[in-house]
Amino acid sequence: NLSYRIVAIAGEGIGPEVVKASLKVLQLVVKLEGFSLQVDYGWLGSTALEKFGSYFPQATIELCNGANGIVFGAVTQGGLLELRKHYDFFCNLRPIRLANSLVHKSSLRPEKIQGLDILIVRELVSGIYFGPAGRSGDEKGAYGYHTMLYYDEEIRRIARQALHKAQQRRRLLTVAHKENALPHLPWTRLVQEEAKQFPDVVVEPMLVDNLAMQMVLNPQRFDVILAGNMFGDILSDIGGALVGSLGLLGSASLNADGFGLYEAVHGTAPDIAGKGIANPLGTLEACVLMLQQWGEVRAAQRIMAAQERVLAKGYRTADLSPQGAEILVNTEQLIDLLLEELDSKQHS
Ligand code: IPM
Ligand code: MN
Repeated sequence: NLSYRIVAIAGEGIGPEVVKASLKVLQLVVKLEGFSLQVDYGWLGSTALEKFGSYFPQATIELCNGANGIVFGAVTQGGLLELRKHYDFFCNLRPIRLANSLVHKSSLRPEKIQGLDILIVRELVSGIYFGPAGRSGDEKGAYGYHTMLYYDEEIRRIARQALHKAQQRRRLLTVAHKENALPHLPWTRLVQEEAKQFPDVVVEPMLVDNLAMQMVLNPQRFDVILAGNMFGDILSDIGGALVGSLGLLGSASLNADGFGLYEAVHGTAPDIAGKGIANPLGTLEACVLMLQQWGEVRAAQRIMAAQERVLAKGYRTADLSPQGAEILVNTEQLIDLLLEELDSKQHS
């Protein structure tokens, strides 16, 4: 493909800053690789509510229809779950990789973390986020409920994606479950049944509480981790602690057609919003995942290499608490460094 169209949705908080920053890098790489990219701007969340009277307006849907991808910043909540559900972005891929130069940023000792390369595959459009929910009351008082409901087929289809990913990697699939307390959600059995089509993949069921502990004690043992919506959300943030900052992590959320939503794993970070100091690398990682999804592997590689070199030179945004010889940079400075690296002839 030589020409792509994406919809950029900035959202709120640090969303606009990190989207703008990442798109600069994306545009340069597109130019260097000789394909073309059209960017349309869409609205979601409270800014959409102000402008269109809805968190997830029809205008945004119409823009997104037929696009090659959606690059998304952050919203506090309104609209995001609706967007994920609308396009059935069930397959959320969250790589947790550690750049060599950031080994000392982890909350774990370097030898515990070196070479870390985990892929969390999180089910994104079902489970407790979308099950029957409400508030009501009876003689004991007012109550609220959210129901963790999964159709077997919803578990099977995300299992097939995770098995496929594991097959392309180190062939170990750890399945997060809680069957000692939630026996009617038989993730282990359903994944094992699907795994018959992937005989070279080892399926390892693990109670999610133990899994959380093992991710901290011995993260290098993991390859692909499959989890439902809620457990996957929580385990992702442990991933952020492992690599030193949640600000580094990006994710791709795909539907069955391969259409995707690309966003950082972090939220709106209201405490630093508007200051120009946010780490854009999470959203940039999401853009890398988008390029990979398109098959633009060289373009993706170029961004990753540039990022690695900038980090190796010691440049750090504030979330990575620069110390010693490391150099504190803001969002714009980091992006300029990346653009310089991408442009420099010696590496191309
Ligand atoms: C994430 C976020 C979202 C989620 C919130 C903003 C609804 O935490 O993408 O990890 O829980 O899915
Ligand atoms: Mn989360």
